[in-house]
Amino acid sequence: MQLKWKHWVICTISVLLIFYKSSDVGRNQVHQKTRLTWSSEPRIMRLMVNGSEKVVSGGLNDLDIGLEWKFNSTLISMIRKDILRFLDAERDVSVIKSSFKPGDTIHYVLDRRRTFNVSQALHSLIPEVSPLKNKSFKTCAVVGNSGILLKSGCGKEIDNHSFVIRVSLFADVGLRSDFTTMNPSVIQRVYGGLREEDQQQSFIQRLQKLNNSTLWVPAFLVKGGMKYVDNVNKLILQHKLNVHMAYPSLRLIHAVRGYWLTNKIHIKRPSTGLLMYTMATRFCEQIYLYGFWPFPKDALGNPVKYHYFDGLKYRYFSSAGPHRMPLEFKTLQNLHRNGALKLTTSTCEGS
Ligand SMILES: *[C@@H]1O[C@H](CO)[C@@H](O)[C@H](O)[C@H]1NC(C)=O
Ligand SMILES: *[C@@H]1O[C@H](CO)[C@@H](O)[C@H](O)[C@H]1NC(C)=O
Ligand SMILES: *[C@@H]1O[C@H](CO)[C@@H](O)[C@H](O)[C@H]1NC(C)=O
Ligand SMILES: *[C@@H]1O[C@H](CO)[C@@H](O)[C@H](O)[C@H]1NC(C)=O
Ligand SMILES: *[C@@H]1O[C@H](CO)[C@@H](O)[C@H](O)[C@H]1NC(C)=O
Ligand SMILES: *[C@@H]1O[C@H](CO)[C@@H](O)[C@H](O)[C@H]1NC(C)=O
Ligand SMILES: *[C@@H]1O[C@H](CO)[C@@H](O)[C@H](O)[C@H]1NC(C)=O
Repeated sequence: MQLKWKHWVICTISVLLIFYKSSDVGRNQVHQKTRLTWSSEPRIMRLMVNGSEKVVSGGLNDLDIGLEWKFNSTLISMIRKDILRFLDAERDVSVIKSSFKPGDTIHYVLDRRRTFNVSQALHSLIPEVSPLKNKSFKTCAVVGNSGILLKSGCGKEIDNHSFVIRVSLFADVGLRSDFTTMNPSVIQRVYGGLREEDQQQSFIQRLQKLNNSTLWVPAFLVKGGMKYVDNVNKLILQHKLNVHMAYPSLRLIHAVRGYWLTNKIHIKRPSTGLLMYTMATRFCEQIYLYGFWPFPKDALGNPVKYHYFDGLKYRYFSSAGPHRMPLEFKTLQNLHRNGALKLTTSTCEGS
């Protein structure tokens, strides 16, 4: 009896704590009450809440049959203005050198109690000015890393855009990348923490392919990130690799989440793909998305790999994971329907 009582008390306290935590986050971030027309359609909203595969397949057909599909530049500028109230991607895309000095202590963004010190190597690689300062592009590709890309034949079309953003170091569908993101966890997962000589060599070869473009590493997000980033930075300096590092500002992820929350998209933590789309609205007139497909099967029922380059499983279906991929996907689909962006989930023409 006593044990049960104890359990009950612990459960209640946990629930209260969770509630307190989430309302706290909500208070800080939902400080504006803007809402876009695209998020107010009841049918679509219901679609967006339920991430079931069946519903999405139906949605996909809607997407691809739209012969009259066009970008809506009015909507695009409305969204850009709205996002600018939360973040200025030109500034938030990266911290800059003058904001830090070596030895400064930084708190991890999502792990406030943990800190790291800014090393000499990190400081020397932080850009002097934002890598996207004064930039604007007619068309941009944001390339996700779903296995849906594998047989898409979209490489040529992707490379043809004015600016190519890749949400993965493994850019095998098409060749060009102007802006590549790398999660620090990749260093551990794919390169064994760069402890061995051959792991270092294959990593160096990857970075050489970046060919003087930007490598964006969210190094300050969760504890332990810096350990791997320090190893990466040492290699870059030691081998004088031709790559421009960028590290997102400490407020970026909160600002992006805040924007989506005020539009009633209840994400826990935006995925890198959604971050990139949100940022790209600042610089790109027309945004084309490829390789966004968070489902284990395609519209015809064929299996799709979670990542096109490794064997990672679909753990983001679990509500315990940090991201809400199906919800994000529905949101992007909805934006596509309204001409705010172009989402390609099928094969590309001429392939
Ligand atoms: C999602 O859809 C499935 C079937 O399509 C249904 O069984 C389930 O109850 C729905 N979930 C919610 C939260 O609406
Ligand atoms: C473009 O979007 C705006 C804002 O949502 C809307 O008022 C307008 O009707 C749209 N134009 C077209 C051609 O769909
Ligand atoms: C960071 O630097 C401070 C002193 O500047 C030192 O006390 C602390 O141990 C350092 N932390 C780490 C993780 O190196
Ligand atoms: C950005 O543009 C402004 C005006 O358009 C100009 O004054 C400034 O020098 C430019 N900065 C860079 C880094 O090109
Ligand atoms: C590349 O873009 C140009 C116009 O910007 C277009 O005419 C051409 O068809 C495109 N090529 C491919 C392969 O998409
Ligand atoms: C590297 O970048 C330059 C300039 O952007 C480009 O002309 C060249 O083709 C690229 N090389 C490779 C191997 O991608
Ligand atoms: C490399 O990139 C920098 C900054 O983006 C640029 O100023 C420089 O011209 C590029 N070099 C080559 C060889 O493309």
